[in-house]
Amino acid sequence: MNPNIDEIKQQLEQLKKDFLDDIKQKKEDNFVEKIRVKYLGRKGELSSFFGLMGKIAPENRPELGQELNKLKTFFQDEIQKLSQSEALRPQKVDFFDTSLPGIPVDFGTQHPLYQVLDEIKSIFVSLGFTIETGPELETDYYNFEALNIPKDHPSRDLQDTLYIKDDLLLRTHTSPVQIRTMEKTSPPIRMIAPGKCFRKDAIDATHFPVFHQVEGLCVDEGITFSDLKGVIEAFAKRMFGEDVKIRFRPSFFPFTEPSAEYDFSCVKCNGKGCNICKGTGWLEISGAGMVDPVVFKYVNIDPEKYSGFAFGMGVERIAMLKYQINDIRDFYENDLRFLTQF
Ligand code: DAH
Repeated sequence: MNPNIDEIKQQLEQLKKDFLDDIKQKKEDNFVEKIRVKYLGRKGELSSFFGLMGKIAPENRPELGQELNKLKTFFQDEIQKLSQSEALRPQKVDFFDTSLPGIPVDFGTQHPLYQVLDEIKSIFVSLGFTIETGPELETDYYNFEALNIPKDHPSRDLQDTLYIKDDLLLRTHTSPVQIRTMEKTSPPIRMIAPGKCFRKDAIDATHFPVFHQVEGLCVDEGITFSDLKGVIEAFAKRMFGEDVKIRFRPSFFPFTEPSAEYDFSCVKCNGKGCNICKGTGWLEISGAGMVDPVVFKYVNIDPEKYSGFAFGMGVERIAMLKYQINDIRDFYENDLRFLTQF
C-alpha cells in the first residue's frame, strides 16, 4: 500500500517536535554536529522521508516536496544558529598541560619623577633632615602672607595662582610647609618638604601647570650662609657626582635675606658649554637664602637667637638634567615607551 500523504505530514510534525526537543537538551560535546547528522545527514531522519517521494501518489508529490524542503530549511537555519552560539560557548578542556610556561604579568615601574624624588629624599635624610608635608590646597596666609609676600606682590597675580576661593588656592610652591613646620616645632629644625605645586602656566617644553618641588629649611643657633652652601654642595655631589661645581648668584625672594639663586655646573658638558646649558656651562636649579627675620616673627621664633637658611628645588628640573630629558611634558603624558625606560 502506498503511504498516505496526511500520515506523512503528521510524522513530519512529530519530527519537528522531536527536533525542537533535542536541541533543548543539555549540550554535550560535539552536540551541534550530532544534531545535524541525526536530522540532515545522508542516513538521517529527513532523508528517509525524501525516499518516500517515489512511493506516494504522483499528485501528492509537489505538496510533499514543499513540506520536506520547508522542514529542511527550518532544520538548517536552527542548526546554523546553534553552531554560532556553540562557538561562543567556552570549550571544555579535558587536558591541562602543567608543564606550559606561565603567562608573565606586566609589572609597572615607579614613575621617573618619583624615583628622582626618592633619591633626593634619601640624600637629605642621610644629612639629618626630616621629611615634612603640607596641604596642596593652601590658604593665602601660608602660601603668601607669612612668607612676607605682600598683597601687591606679582606672584599673587591671578595669572600665576590657581584660586579656589578668595582665600583658598592651590599652593604655588612648597615654601608654605616652612611656616607650618616652624609653627609646630621649635628649633633646631632641619627639614625638607617634597610635593606638588600648581601654577597657571601655559604648557611648553619647560612649563607644566603641575610640578614638584622640594623645599629645604634649617633653623638653629648660629646658622650661616656657608652652612647653606655646604648642604647644597653635598647634595649636588651626591646627586650628580664629585665633579659637579656649585655657584650662588645674588637674587631676591621676599622670605629670604640675603637671597640667591644657585646653579650646578652642566652635568652634560662639565662646564664647557653645550646645548643643555645653552653654552654657559651652568644650569639654574632654584632659589635659596637666609630666612628673613620677618618670617621668624610670624612663627614666633626669636630672630635674635636663631637664624636659618632655606632653599627650593625643582624636581622636574633635576630629573630632566639627570636623564637628559628635553621636554617636561614627557613626565605627564603616561606614554609607556617613555616610562618603562627608567
Ligand atoms: N619658593 C620659591 C619658588 O617657588 C623657591 C625658593 C626660593 C624657595 C628661595 C626657598 C628659597 O626656600 O629660600 O620659586
